[in-house]
Amino acid sequence: MKPHQKLHTSLLAGLIAIAASSYLSIAPAMAADAYPNKPITLVVPFSAGGPTDAVARLIAVPMGKDLGQTVIVENTVGAGGTIATTRVARAAPDGYILYLHHMGMATAPALYKKLPFDPMKDFEYIGQVVDVPMVLLGRKNFPANNFKELEAYIKVNKEKVTIANAGPGSVSQLCGLLLMSREGVELTTVPYKGTGPALTDLLGGQVDLLCDQTTQTVPYIKDNLVKAYGVTTLKRLPGLSNIPTLDEQGLKGFEVKAWHGLYAPKGTPPEVLAKINKALRVALNNPEVKARLGESNIEVVPMSKVTSESLKNQLDSEINKWGPVIRKAGAYAD
Ligand code: MLT
Repeated sequence: MKPHQKLHTSLLAGLIAIAASSYLSIAPAMAADAYPNKPITLVVPFSAGGPTDAVARLIAVPMGKDLGQTVIVENTVGAGGTIATTRVARAAPDGYILYLHHMGMATAPALYKKLPFDPMKDFEYIGQVVDVPMVLLGRKNFPANNFKELEAYIKVNKEKVTIANAGPGSVSQLCGLLLMSREGVELTTVPYKGTGPALTDLLGGQVDLLCDQTTQTVPYIKDNLVKAYGVTTLKRLPGLSNIPTLDEQGLKGFEVKAWHGLYAPKGTPPEVLAKINKALRVALNNPEVKARLGESNIEVVPMSKVTSESLKNQLDSEINKWGPVIRKAGAYAD
């Protein structure tokens, strides 16, 4: 090769290298600018038709409108939500996989001796979403007509009484666990892939008890299709003020609220997270969303909690709060 050809070739190689490295340095910013350019998947760790699914479908529409792409809710069920959490932890950090989960994100580390994810390391924290109260329910023809009668009944009948939940790691399981621990009884637990199907069986009389979120249970309570023994908040709920709290009926300090957070896989670019956080805020400020949640006694969290820091702090404090309680109850899932 002649000298000027060699020079030409090395110059060309140099220019290509500069172009490539400059592209690589601006590619993430370009990707973030273009985000989203295809539909987004919002993973839910429980069955369709259940309370977590309902919140996801409620925020998915206004979030999609703000982002300019469809947000598709996908139910990945099983193992109290840990199968879905693992899926999201391993997903590509590109903003096209998001995750709505509740306090089960905080109880899993105590319930499972081995987890394929670390809630505090494998995710980006977009913001808190809603806090959902729960109600302890009985099937319509269950012999106990109030909480005092229920306490007496379960102390005598113990494992003959069945209580449904959505598997170890679900908030319905945690509520049942706390009830059994406080009452000193071991009931027979019946796990489902979500409290959607669990409520169906309660309504059908196939299972005796269920502690579930108000998201899906308020209409059945109001139509007397189930018995409501008490709410799991320390104050009575405005929309269910005739139902006493479990706290005022003797279970002092009994409080379980299903707080929900929105997550993305670790490494999702900050510019992408900012767009998703904005869309979440838009959704939570949407009047129809607020009205629908209000019908179920669900509180939209204040905007000060719809931040990465707030969700991460909430998760950290809840892991530390529930760990000892679960370990004391000896409720390991694996
Ligand atoms: C559900 O959506 O099925 C519930 O949140 C499950 C649970 O955590 O009890």
